Amino acid sequence: MGSIEVSRKVWVSAAAVVVLLAAYWYELSRVDDLLVRLEMTHESLLHIEDSVSVNPKTKIAIGFGSCVDVVAQTRDVLLDRYSPPKVAKPHDIIETRDELLEAFAYFFQFGAAAERYIKNSTLFAELVAAANTGRHTKRTIGGNAPIMASRFAKEGIGEVLLAAQMSAQLQSQLPSDVVLSCPHLPSDDIHLLLEYPLDEKWENKYVSPRANRFIVHNDNKNPLLHSLDTFYEKAVDFKPDLVIVSGLQMMDNFPIDIEIRKQRIEVLRQSLIDLRTNDPKVRIHFEMASFAEEALLKTITDRIFPIVDSIGLNEQEAQNLYNLYVYGNLSVVSDPYPRVALVLDQMRHLYSVLNSDSAGQLTRIHVHTLAFQAILMRKGSNWKALMASSAKAALTAHRHTCGSEVIDVNKAKLIVDESFSTTRSDSNKRRIGFDAKNPVNCWDESVSQDNGATHQTSICVAPVLVCTKVLQTGGGGDNVSAAGLVLQI
Ligand SMILES: *[C@@H]1O[C@H](CO)[C@@H](O)[C@H](O)[C@H]1NC(C)=O
Ligand SMILES: *[C@@H]1O[C@H](CO)[C@@H](O)[C@H](O)[C@H]1NC(C)=O
Ligand SMILES: *[C@@H]1O[C@H](CO)[C@@H](O)[C@H](O)[C@H]1NC(C)=O
Repeated sequence: MGSIEVSRKVWVSAAAVVVLLAAYWYELSRVDDLLVRLEMTHESLLHIEDSVSVNPKTKIAIGFGSCVDVVAQTRDVLLDRYSPPKVAKPHDIIETRDELLEAFAYFFQFGAAAERYIKNSTLFAELVAAANTGRHTKRTIGGNAPIMASRFAKEGIGEVLLAAQMSAQLQSQLPSDVVLSCPHLPSDDIHLLLEYPLDEKWENKYVSPRANRFIVHNDNKNPLLHSLDTFYEKAVDFKPDLVIVSGLQMMDNFPIDIEIRKQRIEVLRQSLIDLRTNDPKVRIHFEMASFAEEALLKTITDRIFPIVDSIGLNEQEAQNLYNLYVYGNLSVVSDPYPRVALVLDQMRHLYSVLNSDSAGQLTRIHVHTLAFQAILMRKGSNWKALMASSAKAALTAHRHTCGSEVIDVNKAKLIVDESFSTTRSDSNKRRIGFDAKNPVNCWDESVSQDNGATHQTSICVAPVLVCTKVLQTGGGGDNVSAAGLVLQI
């Protein structure tokens, strides 16, 4: 072997080492860059959130319903017990185990949140018994209204009136600032939250594309909004600044004549109208949820939406509502990771529909998604602190799913694109980059209305530090929506 050959080999190995080192260093610095970007985004969001404080004198009244949430892992209740079904189907009402497995598989494969009534109480009891054996199963106070009420109290609102019937034992889990509008009940209904992480596998047939949950219940009290009956009287005396309507999805596909359910919605409508007549300054927020029954959602949009000032909804619910208005039908599931432009276009559309002559006077829409928070409000309406609210909603999304008030950026990632388009339409399109130092992007724009008028609006989009060690997704929307409202009133 000649010396030239040897030195060539030395050179080749040395070059390989240099390339490897460079790759390693590049990888390290990339990880570092990501961490720096996360830390900077986190600090900036905290700073924006802190720039506005909660007014403790604000009074909030919120309904309807409550329950015990049994939060279990689907692995313990379904995946390790049953084989996946041959077909996946989004049954509206569940009566048999096969229907349950088919419905669960359907939403699980899309990572879509859903809520269903189980007609068969034996089947429901079996599921709860299975959940009770799970090592990670927790019992907490549930229902949209109590979760939002607790969040408001935790954020420093001094007086919250909650329209819900519950046992004294369950009430002991509520902060003392929350006052109940109804007498106690001897026992509480159970809602079973079947949680699953990202990439959960059901044998080799189904994989979840994101963390989410499937909720089932066999609740016969909440669907008829019993807590509504004493609400109006209590609320008139309470004099709320903000009234929140939530929990109406409990009526969805509930096996009782739609006419009877429509009457309950009429009672709600009249209470809201009377509250507003009594105090024209009161603002009304509607919290959306998963609806699968067209006739019911149509009744709600016709009768309740014209009186509300604000709605809060997630990406599935935004798509669902959009479909109802545009196509007249509901979407069963939709993209769990929608682009910002798509969501903003849906918000503009919903805003203009809900401001048409017959449909109402909406001034605020908050869409919460896994990747970002978007809030649109009419300029000159009296919602305050839009930017801080968007930041607070984004931070709360992480705090809730990771189960910790303090955010650890090592358990966070940003999944929003580095930049986004403000619309999918060709005119007025702008591209905005996410800047870790100024993570919340806000701008003004005019949104044209169906009746030809234009409204000046402000929009903010905030990136979420997505939790990578998810403890709970159920109740997330309620915490996030409440967090988004608390600085705005
Ligand atoms: C209700 O569920 C139980 C337990 O899974 C089952 O044995 C029974 O057949 C179901 N009843 C109906 C009417 O489907
Ligand atoms: C709703 O209607 C649209 C337009 O007619 C159709 O494309 C879509 O498939 C329908 N969706 C459902 C879930 O039926
Ligand atoms: C979300 O709300 C529920 C009810 O108030 C609460 O138990 C839970 O801790 C909240 N999540 C966070 C992170 O605050």
